[in-house]
Amino acid sequence: MTSVRVTDLVKDYSIRTGLKRTRLRAVDHVSLELTPGRTVALVGESGSGKSTIAKILTRMETPSSGTVDVRLDDGTAVARSRYRREVQMVFQDPFASLNPFHSIEHHIARPLRIHKRTTTAEETRERVLEMLERVNLTPAANIAPRRPHELSGGQRQRVAIARALAPGAQVLIADEPVSMLDVSIRLGVLNLLGRLQREDALAVLYITHDLATARHFSDEIVVLYRGRVVERGPSDAVILDPHHEYTKLLALAAPDPERPGRVTSSDPVDRETIDNSTCYDHFTGSWQEAGVPAAARAAAP
Ligand SMILES: Nc1ncnc2c1ncn2[C@@H]1O[C@H](COP(=O)(O)OP(=O)(O)OP(=O)(O)O)[C@@H](O)[C@H]1O
Ligand SMILES: [Mg+2]
Repeated sequence: MTSVRVTDLVKDYSIRTGLKRTRLRAVDHVSLELTPGRTVALVGESGSGKSTIAKILTRMETPSSGTVDVRLDDGTAVARSRYRREVQMVFQDPFASLNPFHSIEHHIARPLRIHKRTTTAEETRERVLEMLERVNLTPAANIAPRRPHELSGGQRQRVAIARALAPGAQVLIADEPVSMLDVSIRLGVLNLLGRLQREDALAVLYITHDLATARHFSDEIVVLYRGRVVERGPSDAVILDPHHEYTKLLALAAPDPERPGRVTSSDPVDRETIDNSTCYDHFTGSWQEAGVPAAARAAAP
C-alpha cells in the first residue's frame, strides 16, 4: 500500500509575450492526499492546473516549490528508483499514448520486464494475458499480437490501464481518462477503473471536467480554479452543497457537444471576476485562505 502526500505545491511557468517574459503561476499552493482504496477527483475547467499537478506527481515536471511525499504502509519513503513503479499515469489520449509500431503484448511486457515483475519470457507472456483479461480485453490471446490501430479507442484505453498497472503500481493518476472516448463507452472504462481500484486498493487521482462522474467515482472532490483549490470535501457534500461561486458555476455547466469532454456554462458569467482567494473546506466546515502555505492558512474573513 502506498500513500502520496502533496504539500504546498507551486508551479510557475515562464512564458514569452513578445519580447517580455512573464511568470504564470499554474499551480498555487495545492495540498492533497492520496490514500489506498480512495479516489480523489480533481475537477476544474481547462487551464486550471490539473495536468500540471498530474505531471508533477508522475515526475514529468518538477515543482517550483512544495513537496510530494510517497510512503509505503510502514512509513518508509519510496526511493526514487521505485517511484515509477509505484505511481503510474493513464493519459487522456489513448491514440497518442501507445506506440503504433509495437504490439499490445509489447506495451504490457515492457513494464513487466523493466520492473522485474517476471523472470522468464513464458512468465511474461502469461502475465500479459492475465493483465489483458483483467481489463476485459478478451480473448486475450487474440488481442495481444494486435497493434494499437487495430483496437477501438476504448480498447486502447484499457491497454493503457493494464500497462499502468503492470509494474504493480499502487497509485494511479488518471488525467481525463475517458474524455476523448465516445460517450457510450465512457462508463465502461470508468467502471473498470473503479473495479481495479477496489480489487487492488489503489490510491487514485481522477482528473476530470465532469462533476457527475467525479461524484459517482470518487470519495473526495477537490475543485481547482486558476491554480488554487477553492473547495474540497466528501464528494456528495461538494456536489449537493457547493459553497464556492466557482463550484456552483461548474455544477450548472453542461457538456459541450462540440468539444467532447469539455463543458460550457449555461450562464455566461465572466470567470475572471470569480475570486480564488478563498477555499471552502467541507471537512472542517469553514472558509480558509487559498494560495498560501498550509501551515499559514488562516480562517478567511
Ligand atoms: N510547459 C508549459 N509552459 C508554459 N505554460 C504551461 C505549460 N504547461 C501548462 N502551462 C499553462 O499552465 C496552466 C495550467 O495548465 P494545465 O495543463 O495544468 O491545465 P488543465 O487544468 O490540465 O487544463 P485542461 O483541462 O485543458 O487539460 C495553463 O494556463 C497552461 O497554459
Ligand atoms: Mg489537462
